[in-house]
Amino acid sequence: MPVVNEDHGRLIRLDALYDDPYPTYFELRGRPVAYVPEAGRYLVARHADVMYVEQHPEIFSSAEEDSLITRVMGSTLLRKDGCPHMRERKAAEPALRPRVVRNHWKPVFQQISDELIDGFADRGEADLFVDYAGPMAALSLAAMLGFRGVSADDMQRWSQTMMDGIGNYADDPGVWERAERSAAEVGAAVDETMERVREAPDESIVSAMLRGEDPIDVETVKSNVRVIIGGGINEPRDAVLTAIYGLLDNPDQLAEVRADEKLCAAAFEEAVRWVSPIGMYPRQTTRETELGGTLLPKGARLGVLIGSANRDEAVFEDPDRFDIRRGSRPHIGFGGGPHYCLGTWAARAQVGEVSLPNLIRRLPNLRPVGGTETRWGGWVFRGPLNLAVRWDV
Ligand code: HEM
Repeated sequence: MPVVNEDHGRLIRLDALYDDPYPTYFELRGRPVAYVPEAGRYLVARHADVMYVEQHPEIFSSAEEDSLITRVMGSTLLRKDGCPHMRERKAAEPALRPRVVRNHWKPVFQQISDELIDGFADRGEADLFVDYAGPMAALSLAAMLGFRGVSADDMQRWSQTMMDGIGNYADDPGVWERAERSAAEVGAAVDETMERVREAPDESIVSAMLRGEDPIDVETVKSNVRVIIGGGINEPRDAVLTAIYGLLDNPDQLAEVRADEKLCAAAFEEAVRWVSPIGMYPRQTTRETELGGTLLPKGARLGVLIGSANRDEAVFEDPDRFDIRRGSRPHIGFGGGPHYCLGTWAARAQVGEVSLPNLIRRLPNLRPVGGTETRWGGWVFRGPLNLAVRWDV
C-alpha cells in the first residue's frame, strides 16, 4: 500500500548534499521516495525508480510550471514534452550525429586541445580546471554552435551566470541582472552566426536549426542555444576532471590507460557514472501516481537523482569505486528517456577520444601535486573544483 511520504525528507539538508551527496543518497535508496521540504521536491534515488520516470514521460513531465530556466533562457526544448519537444530536438540533431562528430568535430576538438596544451606544457604544473578542462569544453562548444571570435572566458561567464539565474530561488536582483545580460549577449552572438550561415551553411548547430526540413523560429533558436551553453560546458569539463582524478587515484588503472589509449573511452564512461556531472534534473507529475512506495499528488515536483541511480548497489557492484574495467552495465549519466542527451556522441569524442588521451600522451609522468587537496562541490551539477597536477618537462 503506497503512503504519502513526508517524514524522513525533513532531515535532509541541501548544504550537506552540496558537500557530499553520496551518504544521503545511500539512505534515500533504502526508503520509499521522500519529499524534501528544503528542495521543494520528492527526491527519486533508486535506479529502478529513475528508469520508471524516464519510461513514463506522459506521467512525469519535463514541462515544469514556473521553471526558472524558461524565465532566464526563454522557451527551450528541455522544458517541453511530446511533439513540440521532438520538433526542436530534431532541428539541432543533424549537427550532433555520430558521423558528423567523427568526421567534422573530432579534428576541431583535437586542434583546440593541442593549442591549449601548447600554452602550458613547458610549465610543468597546472590547475587542470582553469588551464585545460574549462577552456577545452567552452571552445569546443563555441565551435559546434558555429560561433566565431567568442572567447572561452565569455562562454564560461555566459554559462555560469545563466546557471546562477536558474538557481536564483532567493530572487537576488544582481543575479537576475547578470543572467539577463548574458542571455542578451548570447542572443547577439546567435544573430551574428545566423547572418553568416544563412549565406554559407555549415555543420554547426545554429546552421542546422535554421536549415532543417521544419526550421524553428529565431527566438526559439536563441533560447535553445542558451540552454545548450548552460548545459554543454560544465559537463564535459567536470567529466574530464573526474576521469583524470580517478586515474591518478588508481595508478594501476592509469598504467592500463597509458598502455592502451583506447581505454580512455571507458575511463570517460566510468567518470560519468561515478560522479555524474548532471546529478539531478526536474520532472513534474501530470496526475496522481505511485512511485517507489510513495503516493505522489498531481503536480508534484520531482528531483530525479541520476547521480544516485548511478551508484545504486542493486545495479553496480561496489558502486563507490572508480573502475574503468566495470564492464557492460550501462550508466544513466546521459539520461534515459525522450530527453536523452543530444550531445552524447560529441561529449564521448571530446573527452574520451581527445581531451583525456591527448593530455596523458603529452604530459609525461602526470601526477597529483602532493599536499593540494581536490575539492568537490554540487549535487544538481557536481565535479571537482580544482585539480592541481605536475608532469616532467
Ligand atoms: C559529459 C558530458 C555530458 C553529460 C553527462 C550530459 C548529460 C545530459 C543529461 C543527463 C541530459 C538530460 C536532461 C534532462 O532530461 O532534463 C542532457 C540533455 C541534453 N544535453 Fe547533455 N550532457 C553532456 C554534454 C553535452 C554536450 C557537449 C552538449 C552539446 C553539444 C549537450 C547537449 C544536450 C542537449 C541539447 C540536451 C537536451 C536534450 C533534449 O531535451 O531532448 N550535452 N545532457
